[in-house]
Amino acid sequence: MKRIGVLTSGGDAPGMNAAIRAVTRTAIYNDMEVIGFCRGYDGLLDGDVIPLSVSSVGGIIHRGGTVLRTARCPRFMKPEGVREGLRRLKEYDIDALVVIGGDGSFHGAYELHKLGFPVVGIPGTIDNDMAGTDCTVGFDTACNTALQCIEKLRDTASSHERLFLVEVMGRNAGFLALEAAVAAGAEYVLLPEVKFDLDTLCKKLHYARERGKTHSLIIVAEGVMPVSELAAKLKDTAGFDARIIVLGHIQRGGSPSSFDAVLASRLGGGAVEALKRGEYGVMVGRIAGNIVTCPLQVSWEQKKDLDADMMSLIETLGI
Ligand code: ADP
Ligand code: F6P
Repeated sequence: MKRIGVLTSGGDAPGMNAAIRAVTRTAIYNDMEVIGFCRGYDGLLDGDVIPLSVSSVGGIIHRGGTVLRTARCPRFMKPEGVREGLRRLKEYDIDALVVIGGDGSFHGAYELHKLGFPVVGIPGTIDNDMAGTDCTVGFDTACNTALQCIEKLRDTASSHERLFLVEVMGRNAGFLALEAAVAAGAEYVLLPEVKFDLDTLCKKLHYARERGKTHSLIIVAEGVMPVSELAAKLKDTAGFDARIIVLGHIQRGGSPSSFDAVLASRLGGGAVEALKRGEYGVMVGRIAGNIVTCPLQVSWEQKKDLDADMMSLIETLGI
């Protein structure tokens, strides 16, 4: 293995730069050359490349976003797109490709693998919705960002004795919402994995009012419903007047936390080590503190469950 490519694809996540740096430096340490493809699979198809060196990945470990930029590339979702990607990889004399992204990006990598091209995936998404790793790169930072925002909202909620509905990202998964809710001491959390019942929620809010609680914070995972819709339902059915906030893309930005910078560095190093061992079509992950590999398909075929203890904990603590 003499020359490898690396790209970031799908939604960006804090720590992607630390992963790019670790892939590049580990590869160079092992006498390989590294080429970065810009804008995910778009850059692969368009030949948008930059050589990466020890110094060009200096000073990026702490930066949010991704210096390679990222994109969603519909062209790559067609067989002819994947074949064109393979042709480009050969044109640039690339022996293997490291894909940093979510399970969508891993599907793309898997298509290349099926055509016989060596690939390794590094899980990077704030959603943490991928099996094969306890944590994806970016999840911890996004939780901390959400937490900081929720803490600020709590101040004003408490001063004005208000009910706030806070919508957090996570696509169809509730990992980010659950983690942020427990960390922020939120009263309730609504998760896509748990059937939503408006009556139960209204009863809880009434009960809280009766025992003298003057403000409440409800964390709503975006996969449940838009907070504007929930606010309208609460108003119509029980007369609750809620303020709403959508935390949105702010959760994707910022410098990686120490946890994410370390995780991304370890996974970046682990990806190159996997290639050296001849392990292709795999993802690297962190399970119980250890860096491990498993087939790429595990990330979307296996179901990653929310922590049941965390779910009952929020029920108990939000009494
Ligand atoms: P994420 O990687 O964050 O889950 P997406 O689901 O948007 O983000 O996927 C990112 C990109 O991965 C897509 O825009 C597309 O280029 C590629 N991709 C996703 N699914 C496939 C697929 N089935 N085949 C080939 N490429 C895919
Ligand atoms: O997958 C990361 C994520 O931020 C999800 O939480 C969210 O649903 C989605 O991406 C938003 O995508 P976009 O950046 O295209 O609006």
